[in-house]
This record gives sequence, C-alpha cells and structure tokens, in this order.
Amino acid sequence: HGDPRIKAISDAIRVVPHFPKPGIMFQDITTLLLDPKAFRYTVDIFVDRYRDKKISVVAGVEARGFIFGPPIALAIGAKFVPLRKPRKLPGEVISESYVLEYGTDCLEMHVGAVQPGESVLIVDDLVATGGTLSAAIRLLERVGAEVVECACVIGLPLVKGNWRLNGVPLYVLVEPR
Ligand code: PRP
Repeated sequence: HGDPRIKAISDAIRVVPHFPKPGIMFQDITTLLLDPKAFRYTVDIFVDRYRDKKISVVAGVEARGFIFGPPIALAIGAKFVPLRKPRKLPGEVISESYVLEYGTDCLEMHVGAVQPGESVLIVDDLVATGGTLSAAIRLLERVGAEVVECACVIGLPLVKGNWRLNGVPLYVLVEPR
C-alpha cells in the first residue's frame, strides 16, 4: 500500500501487551473508532474496493465485524447479515464450529438470510489463524452463496502471506504492530 491513509489507520490502533493474557499483544480497534478520520479512511478503502463488485451481502463476524461491516454494507447498497456466537439468534440457524487455542467456538447464521447464488463479502476486524473466517466461509457456502472475498482491518503477516482462505481471497489493511 502506498496509500497514506494506511499509516493513519495503523497509528490509530492501540496495542495492549499481555491482554487478555500474558504474551498476547492485543490489537485494540476501539481507539481507531475514537478517531473519526481514521475510521472514515478504513470504511472508504473497503467501499472503494467493493462498490463495483456486485456484492449483495456483507456478512459481519461477531463482535467487531458488527462495527466495520454495516457502514460498508450501507455504502455499497448491500444487506448486512450478522454471523453470531451460539444461542444469540432467535430464528432457525445453521452452525459451524472452529478450533481455538483452548477448545472450540461456533458461528451461527439465520436460515433464509442469504439466498443461493448471492455474492458475499465477509468482514471482521482481525485475522490471526484464519479459523474464524474459515467457519464463516463454510456457513455462506453451505447455503449456496459465493464468497467474493474476506476483508479485515488487521492481519498477521503469516496469514497475509497466504492471501487465501479455503480458496477465498483475503484482503487486509495493516499488520499488527
Ligand atoms: C477475534 C477477532 C476475530 C478472531 C480472529 O475475535 O475479532 O473474530 O478473533 O482469530 P482467528 O483468525 O485465529 O480465528 P474473538 O474470538 O476474540 O471474539 P470476540 O470478537 O467475540 O471478542
């Protein structure tokens, strides 16, 4: 990226050492949200990239995909679909579990929210192992949708180097500091 907005975005993300446990360098996007210029740049870069891609669905991953996904969805004229942690959605759901460092977690999506053949952008704040996004991709592909790309604000270099998850392209703005 030769884009000067990228540095502003990176500078606005606070790094909190040893949170939530020793050794973890937590990437805190709440400070990005406190900086309207940097928050605007973040949304604008994604909107510029996806506005002409015929995307009809933006799917956001709980919890921080619910912050970045909706402004992108509104700007490109797509619907927003929340992918939620277990037992939060009231309607009929499909579920996909994924492996964490200790144990497993699960994402759920409402049946009927996305139709077969729809083109989907999946949004989250951060990709680390890619396990969460892989579960999100599986949910969308199970209902016959096409996942055009996964977009994250922050991506670990290893994952960034891969550029693909289950064959789906991955687009990230900055690396963790
Ligand atoms: C974080 C982050 C991503 C996920 C990435 O969420 O917001 O959703 O981890 O990790 P991965 O690429 O290794 O799967 P977290 O699991 O902390 O849940 P939360 O947003 O509900 O706090």
